[in-house]
Amino acid sequence: MVSKFEKLKADVIGMYARNRQQGHAAWAKTDYDFVCPSAVTYPFQWFWDSCFHAVALTHFDIERAKSELRGLVANVHEDGLLSHVTFWQRERYEEMLSTYAIAYRSPYLSDCIQPPVIAEVTEMVVERGGGVAFAREMVPALCRYYDFLDRTRDPDRDGLIAILQADESGLDHSPKYDAYRGMKNGADPAEHDAMWHRAADAYKAVGRVPEKMFALDVFVVEEVLVNAIYAESLGALGRLCKLVGDEVGAAEYKRRAMKTTDALVQKCFDPDAGLFYDLAGLKEAPQRVSTVSCLIPLVLTELPGSVVDRVARHIEDPKGYAAKYPVPSVAISEPTYSAGAIFKLVWRGPTWINTNWYVARGLRRHGLTNLAAKVEASSVALVEKGEYREYYNPETGEGYGAPDFSWSALALDLAHAGGL
Ligand code: GLC
Repeated sequence: MVSKFEKLKADVIGMYARNRQQGHAAWAKTDYDFVCPSAVTYPFQWFWDSCFHAVALTHFDIERAKSELRGLVANVHEDGLLSHVTFWQRERYEEMLSTYAIAYRSPYLSDCIQPPVIAEVTEMVVERGGGVAFAREMVPALCRYYDFLDRTRDPDRDGLIAILQADESGLDHSPKYDAYRGMKNGADPAEHDAMWHRAADAYKAVGRVPEKMFALDVFVVEEVLVNAIYAESLGALGRLCKLVGDEVGAAEYKRRAMKTTDALVQKCFDPDAGLFYDLAGLKEAPQRVSTVSCLIPLVLTELPGSVVDRVARHIEDPKGYAAKYPVPSVAISEPTYSAGAIFKLVWRGPTWINTNWYVARGLRRHGLTNLAAKVEASSVALVEKGEYREYYNPETGEGYGAPDFSWSALALDLAHAGGL
């Protein structure tokens, strides 16, 4: 009998052939070869998407897993930024670009971050056959990038980095930002556009200089998913440094990983709720909205056992995240929770495979195998029909958003982890 893993693998190979983008970029004087998130709606290279694609690629083409990550570091900026979108072949899609809300550094590179997943995934690629030579190749750009985040995104030096726009968290329209942004109706796309412009226009006026953007205090959020991923990746970068013989780097990134983990526990964890909350504004006001990001620190191995138990309880709670197809992006009991799609607004309730990937891995790391297996099986069930959609209804499993959505192929990694 063909395992679920083998069946999914065949599907993903087909989808990754359809979404593969290859060519020569004259502007960068280099060839590119990457998987785009969806050929229909997102033909460019997105940062955290490509990291997830690299994970899926480790199961059938390690060379392409490498080229996916090489594409991300190929245009590292002078200050260390890795752009959240690289518009390798933008000339072909000028019309589509007019519908995007993006802040640019150059016509080909955005001036935003996304959750900094890359060191963690580089380590995975190295371990799954990429080899030490690949670590050696990647480490210099990775160090520049994580140093950039430390230097420019943590002005209060508490170990938590801040995002300056909601979409820097990758969770663009999450209801957890509604109150902080003073929104009247979080289900109104026009209000989201207005909010994006409120910050972007103010940043433009001060030349997008990080210190000045922070001083404006229009959108400064020490966001939990970003920081959990940051801590996880700093730990991975420390190990990569060690692997390539850089003992100083190894100690330094390990220290930073611990500092961020401690800050998440000390400053973001709410012991009454048993959830990790974002801190908003220069005053660091906790945003008490239960969304999937509150659970993502589970991935951190160093998390105290008592904290793990409190957080994991929400995943089994029917009022929390125990939907038929977990894990919804917003807790079921939140007034803003919507199982269905609301226009093109994202992260307001539906289940996503990438956050499931984090939650399931976290649960496994802490020995909560049964619960991890549930999340793995449900993720596999969602894509099993061959529909790799952007997100899914947590109650019915119906798929929404972009078709042929590449990061939903993380279900393949989840099938592997669960022995499915
Ligand atoms: C949406 C998502 C973002 C993702 C992008 C490309 O904007 O919110 O996280 O990176 O699409 O898939």
